[in-house]
Amino acid sequence: MTENAQGAVDYSTKIPNNVRLNDDQRVLKALEQWHPGYIDWWMTMGPEGFQTSDVYLRTAISIDPKGWAKFDYVKMPEYRWGILLAPQDENRLVNFGAHKGEKAWQEVPGEYRAMLRRLVVIQGDTEPASVEQQRHLGKTAPSLYDMRNLFQVNVEEGRHLWAMVYLLHKYFGRDGREEADGLLQRRSGDEDKPRMLGAFNEATPDWLSFFMFTFFTDRDGKMQLESLAQSGFDPLSRTCRFMLTEEAHHMFVGETGVGRAIERTCEAMKAAGIEDPYDINRIRTLGVVDLPTLQKKANLHFSLSLDLFGSEVSTNAANFYNSGLKGRFNETRIDDDHLLTSATYPVLKFVDGAIRIIDEPALTAINMRLRDDYVKDCQGGVSRWNRIIDKAGIKFQLTLPSVAFNRAIGEFRNVHASPEGQQLSDGEWAARKDEWLPSKDDGAFIESLMKPCWDPGKYAGWISSPKVGIDNKPGDFEYVKIAVS
Ligand SMILES: [Fe+2]
Ligand SMILES: [Fe+2]
Repeated sequence: MTENAQGAVDYSTKIPNNVRLNDDQRVLKALEQWHPGYIDWWMTMGPEGFQTSDVYLRTAISIDPKGWAKFDYVKMPEYRWGILLAPQDENRLVNFGAHKGEKAWQEVPGEYRAMLRRLVVIQGDTEPASVEQQRHLGKTAPSLYDMRNLFQVNVEEGRHLWAMVYLLHKYFGRDGREEADGLLQRRSGDEDKPRMLGAFNEATPDWLSFFMFTFFTDRDGKMQLESLAQSGFDPLSRTCRFMLTEEAHHMFVGETGVGRAIERTCEAMKAAGIEDPYDINRIRTLGVVDLPTLQKKANLHFSLSLDLFGSEVSTNAANFYNSGLKGRFNETRIDDDHLLTSATYPVLKFVDGAIRIIDEPALTAINMRLRDDYVKDCQGGVSRWNRIIDKAGIKFQLTLPSVAFNRAIGEFRNVHASPEGQQLSDGEWAARKDEWLPSKDDGAFIESLMKPCWDPGKYAGWISSPKVGIDNKPGDFEYVKIAVS
């Protein structure tokens, strides 16, 4: 490995790391005590039925952007979940809020301890939650390539949990340890001890949901990590910066997964001479997912993910910002005073039955701004999906629904709205919601397509093959050597 001392990864300890765990026996011991509970969680809540299979995975071994990962066959429980932080910049400053211009903090500022711990725990809770949500999917994988990608995402979410747990043990003493234990105790969808955020308690029943989840919900994760990467608390910033390297692949899995389903549908329609994308029954007999159903899936996952941004106007968000703990997307590239004491920001609200723009103090509208940046980012991917449909010559466009559609949190939680943003009565909503969100029948149809396809190089009929293999492997590469158990 060609790295400076700071970036060197120590593989001699049970827990690979570049934070010199060996010099910090207290934290090393705490993490070694946490480890068995983690493995126990992974064995009971991780990918079901594939724990003894050899999976061609990438493992982070370095923080050098040019060569941070190596690929090899690994049994998932033996994956080396390491603690890797982006390199420290001695000159880094707090770049926003009341402490702007101070040297970035290497220790937790006492006055912000509780707020900071909450931010770390909320982020940490999402990581194991998605693994739990996706644990049944291996069995219906449409190819070994896709199965491998699922498991890659899963082990990396596991590593992200490690990253947050490291911060809790290192910087928050006893209550940090309790929170780290709590992260292994909550369960996605559990009535008594659910995960902390709504979208992470929803089911991921099929592969289309998985792809939509990695496109929409992992992208919320990206935005949260981007704003935590701005933190004046330097260890959090460094942790999140490295997590973002891995997160990019998760969104790739989502975007290309949906894109390949679209491609296959268009191809099958053309081969059968079907021009009307709404000729749903005929299209479904071809064994592919009709485009209007893909739109419904997108509507669902987009709206659930918007809820993760919290209320548009939020004093918590203002406090996080003002304290220098959580910034805006691309904070240091924004041309303003980074204090926001007198600035305003346009917020969408429902007024007299219509969506209107109301200027709010920019400081309390931080969540709204991050959500706007998120929507823009989503739109880029949706436009790329539409190009696939265009190229096939089919007259259909996927769109993002209105931010007022199907919301449970924020300004629009108490109103029903169509995907176009028109307010609806309870009756209208009940009568029409199956036009916009996946219905029971849609779910049953998609489920009927979820048949495993595990011959190397083969793909289930509803999805096309990828353009290139992982790590440039040939088309018939055996990404998972399935162990018969
Ligand atoms: Fe993650
Ligand atoms: Fe992720």
